[in-house]
Amino acid sequence: METPHVDARPRYLRQLAERPRRLRRAEWVRALVREHVLVVHDLIWPVFVVEGDGVRESIAALPGVSRLSIDQLLVDARRARALGVPAVAVFPVVPDTQKDDLGTRAIDPNGLACRAARALSESVPGLGIIGDIALDPYTSQGHDGIFRDGDVVNDETVEVLARMAVVHAQAGFDVVAPSDMMDGRVGAIRAALDAAGLERTLILSYAAKYASAFYGPFRQAVGSARPSGSVDKRTYQMDPANAREALREVALDLEEGADLVMVKPGLPYLDVIRQVKDRFGAPTLAYQVSGEYAMLRAGADAGAFSWPDALWESLLAFKRAGADAIVTYAALEIAERLGTEQAASRS
Ligand code: PBG
Repeated sequence: METPHVDARPRYLRQLAERPRRLRRAEWVRALVREHVLVVHDLIWPVFVVEGDGVRESIAALPGVSRLSIDQLLVDARRARALGVPAVAVFPVVPDTQKDDLGTRAIDPNGLACRAARALSESVPGLGIIGDIALDPYTSQGHDGIFRDGDVVNDETVEVLARMAVVHAQAGFDVVAPSDMMDGRVGAIRAALDAAGLERTLILSYAAKYASAFYGPFRQAVGSARPSGSVDKRTYQMDPANAREALREVALDLEEGADLVMVKPGLPYLDVIRQVKDRFGAPTLAYQVSGEYAMLRAGADAGAFSWPDALWESLLAFKRAGADAIVTYAALEIAERLGTEQAASRS
């Protein structure tokens, strides 16, 4: 029997057949072998809308993000469109006096969200307009549905959500995005839209939405946080411990007619994004939620790292995990940076 050849030299003297660093030695080669890129078409910009005129209100928990009145929203939305951002997601900030137990204002065709959609579709053609479908901006308890006897009731809420989706689509929303996590809402919304002749309206389902601490700044921004502390949504939003259950939620929403599915929050759930993309191959979105954005800002403001670098890395991670697009409060800023880089590389 032949003895196998053994290289008796010390390891450091053996020739290295592979030197992965060769592919990293200069930017030109790093660029050539880069597996994922972030482009402006990957971005969806979430915006907070308030009543009034000329209003730009900063949000303490979200540095760099403002609540905008519709006229100001149009200014920024035109900028977003010019930079190539495909879509905005509109979140209305409703005064407490207009909230009630049933979230009645959610189906008001002249409510703030619907007026914003009308203005956007008239003034910024070509920009996709996404409307959040859930009752939390409109209910006095800050829940996403109708709250009765200590819990959010499912089927009755679904009926209201379906009406809300129709009213929103009629106002000019191209996409309705149920973020409520009620069972059966996607099917009910699809049926209601089709019955109203709105078969072209897309449904973006927040399919795997977790009961997360990272929504804190958002709830402050829209005023759905309650003085008693955070609203407990664990009877409808998912348990952060579960990933297989997310696949079941996504499967159901796709069966019911969702065109796009979303995982939310983003960075703490990259494994879920990857599994959803691999299993279904459907258009899969990630939401870099308010708490993720705030966390990065806080780190940068404390001098722990560079804001642009950390932000970039966090967004690239979504692409690596398989996301087709990312909802991020930094969309406009990133789009501007991408635009500047492109101009620089052309010159
Ligand atoms: C409400 C809704 C929430 C977010 C988007 N839609 C908050 C919640 O479920 O309490 C969170 C977004 C963010 O934190 O950036 N249906």
